[in-house]
Amino acid sequence: MLWTASLCVLWALSVQGAPMNKEKQKVLLISFDGFRWDYDRDVDTPNLDKMAKDGVKAPYVTPPYLTITSPTHFTLLTGRYIENHGVIHNMWFNTTTHEKKPYYQTQFVNEWWDNGTLPIWITAQRQGLKAGSLHFPGTASSYQGQVAMVREVEPLLYNYKNETAWQENTDKVMGWFRDQDLDFVSMYFGEPDGTGHKYGPDSPQRRDMVKQVDRTVGYIRDSAERHRLTDRLNIIITADHGMTTVYRNGLVEEITLSKIPGFSFSDLSFHLVDFGPSGMLLPKPGKLEKVYNALKGAHPNLHVYRKEELPERFHFTKNDRILPIVLFADPGYVINGYFPVQFNKGEHGFDNQEMDMKPFFRAVGPAFHKNLQVEPFETVNIYPLMCHILGIQPEVNDGHLSATKDMLVTSVRTKVSGGADYIKRAFTGLAAVAGFLTIVYVATMTHKLLKNKRKHKRSGSVKSLPVQEETKQTSF
Ligand SMILES: *[C@@H]1O[C@H](CO)[C@@H](O)[C@H](O)[C@H]1NC(C)=O
Ligand SMILES: *[C@@H]1O[C@H](CO)[C@@H](O)[C@H](O)[C@H]1NC(C)=O
Ligand SMILES: *[C@@H]1O[C@H](CO)[C@@H](O)[C@H](O)[C@H]1NC(C)=O
Ligand SMILES: [Zn+2]
Repeated sequence: MLWTASLCVLWALSVQGAPMNKEKQKVLLISFDGFRWDYDRDVDTPNLDKMAKDGVKAPYVTPPYLTITSPTHFTLLTGRYIENHGVIHNMWFNTTTHEKKPYYQTQFVNEWWDNGTLPIWITAQRQGLKAGSLHFPGTASSYQGQVAMVREVEPLLYNYKNETAWQENTDKVMGWFRDQDLDFVSMYFGEPDGTGHKYGPDSPQRRDMVKQVDRTVGYIRDSAERHRLTDRLNIIITADHGMTTVYRNGLVEEITLSKIPGFSFSDLSFHLVDFGPSGMLLPKPGKLEKVYNALKGAHPNLHVYRKEELPERFHFTKNDRILPIVLFADPGYVINGYFPVQFNKGEHGFDNQEMDMKPFFRAVGPAFHKNLQVEPFETVNIYPLMCHILGIQPEVNDGHLSATKDMLVTSVRTKVSGGADYIKRAFTGLAAVAGFLTIVYVATMTHKLLKNKRKHKRSGSVKSLPVQEETKQTSF
């Protein structure tokens, strides 16, 4: 009888996909900016390989378009395509005043980030959990007046490459988990993006930086162990986008808008170009067709769209912040305005279908299978996965748990292992026999859940008070 009952419990859990582990599970989301999916192919990466063996690896993930830092990181935090969360660029801009703020300054513009979509920190906190963030894009902003309860924003002139600082930050975050019992933390490293831009993705400098990332991955897992977190902590490591080599030195005909016949900057009231391979234009009233016709087909590697005609797979149309004409270049090209001012050897921001734009993905921890390679998926699906592990109700989002749940040890799996089908049938049969017990069990669980929820709500409202006090912020 007891045996049947426990099988029933198992069955109910496996159907629900709820974590088996009684203890609340934690999630650490890590982004190594610009870590392309195949960067481990020409470098020895023992720690990344070990992580794949101990956990889950996807060959690559598909980022949302536009493949640049702040927009794609906000997709990781929200599960929404960029047109839906509104952080459509690294730069805040005002088309009336012509003001633009660069990447770092834009971090502090609340109205830019807080545009109707809540990042996971706030959602988790509202449901009674504790969240933190270190250097992750979006950390500096508040959302409907709330911020991640423990947070650190890097100072303006920050050395993103310092390995010692990476280790200190790692231990700091593990300390947050252990000493302040945080449930979720997002953590950001600014490399190998910087090195990829400066020296190109095929350079020895990039390979050295990947070695540094790999050592740090080893350090992160050691640190989790030292802080005695491994039985509760799930670590997800991914990136915002990839990187591709820019053609230079007269190898190709560069794209320079001012040289295009029939195009004139005087027909525009605002533009965002000289920013890698993407651009957006706001023509003056009545000039849209003229500007569009001048640019369309003007250069074989320049793509020109009225924003509402962009292919739907970009999900980069339905937002008022996106300007009426959207430009993007083929891999290897950047879009210059008056004359070339960009000299990076590597760039991103290209079509998210390009393999060079795809980031890597690894996950390890008690929620994840060991030594499992899964199919590639879109990064919008990481958000519902994290919410599921944390046991929180996600906000409206564009991802699907079904795309990632095969990674989880407690989900019902049908294709990963051949035995799963048999087990499922056995459980289904058992359930028919023990239906009554199941109903009793579910009723008990529901009662418990409701009680827990009430408890969370209570503790949530208590916790929201010290948020400002606990907020840590370095100078900037
Ligand atoms: C841009 O600036 C104008 C003039 O100051 C202001 O009226 C408008 O609200 C601003 N728009 C945005 C989106 O900030
Ligand atoms: C989003 O920002 C736009 C301006 O860029 C503004 O008009 C709109 O009201 C904002 N929406 C929300 C929900 O904050
Ligand atoms: C790197 O970080 C460590 C620890 O924060 C610091 O002591 C050191 O001065 C930094 N080195 C460089 C070159 O920035
Ligand atoms: Zn980036």
